[in-house]
Amino acid sequence: MSKLAQPLTYRRAARRLRRKLHPIRIGPLLARVDQDRLRALQARHGSPPPDAPSSWHHYSKYLDLKKYLPLNIRRVQDLNLHRSPPREILDIGCGGGFFLFVAQAQGHRGLGLDTPGIPVFDDLVELLGVERIIYTIKALEPLPALGRKFDLITAFSTAFHGGRDHSWRWGAKEWEFLVADLEQHLNPGGQIFFGLNPAYGGDYYTPEILDMFLRRGATVERENVLFPPKRS
Ligand SMILES: C[S@@+](CC[C@H](N)C(=O)[O-])C[C@H]1O[C@@H](n2cnc3c(N)ncnc32)[C@H](O)[C@@H]1O
Repeated sequence: MSKLAQPLTYRRAARRLRRKLHPIRIGPLLARVDQDRLRALQARHGSPPPDAPSSWHHYSKYLDLKKYLPLNIRRVQDLNLHRSPPREILDIGCGGGFFLFVAQAQGHRGLGLDTPGIPVFDDLVELLGVERIIYTIKALEPLPALGRKFDLITAFSTAFHGGRDHSWRWGAKEWEFLVADLEQHLNPGGQIFFGLNPAYGGDYYTPEILDMFLRRGATVERENVLFPPKRS
């Protein structure tokens, strides 16, 4: 049976089984983190002052590594990164850098990209040893030169297309511009993966955005959008 013809429940069960067969243990990952520094960050950022930007309050939840590492372990497993040769990975909206931290522990090289001004993320990427550039993705604006090309470009729970604090949302035109632009940053064979938030009134995309993803050959499974490998 082709992958697309398999029901969602079957594919999910298969993924769960694959994760069990090829686990990534959280213990060795936690052992790589300086726990004294983590506790200091939790004390510093755990309760931002009342007049701090709302994002500081919202993102302080990422100080709970034991909660957010397992999610990112699953992301790495589902992209099969724990069983593939070393790859160059760009993670857009990398936040605290958890995904790249887990991927790097599997032998990959990561670069995060995120907006400025969120101190808890500044400190977390440093703690986790994740290289990051500060850049704000804007509609219909190409990314800057990044100094290297990538085998995988990811964006998980992204907000650049309009997040909880915005009244606007990107349409298909803006998404297509981003996808085409990201392709310029891929090595031959490289892929783009989005793990989307339900930003469109509870939906992950509008019908027009979904059409565009499919027209460009993406495999779409609810929030997960994987584009085909770039041709050389
Ligand atoms: C909900 S957090 C997710 C963080 C991380 N990807 C994860 O799943 O743990 C959304 C992230 O998107 C980033 N972000 C929001 N707007 C952005 C933009 N225009 N350009 C780049 N990053 C952006 C935020 O700073 C934040 O790190």
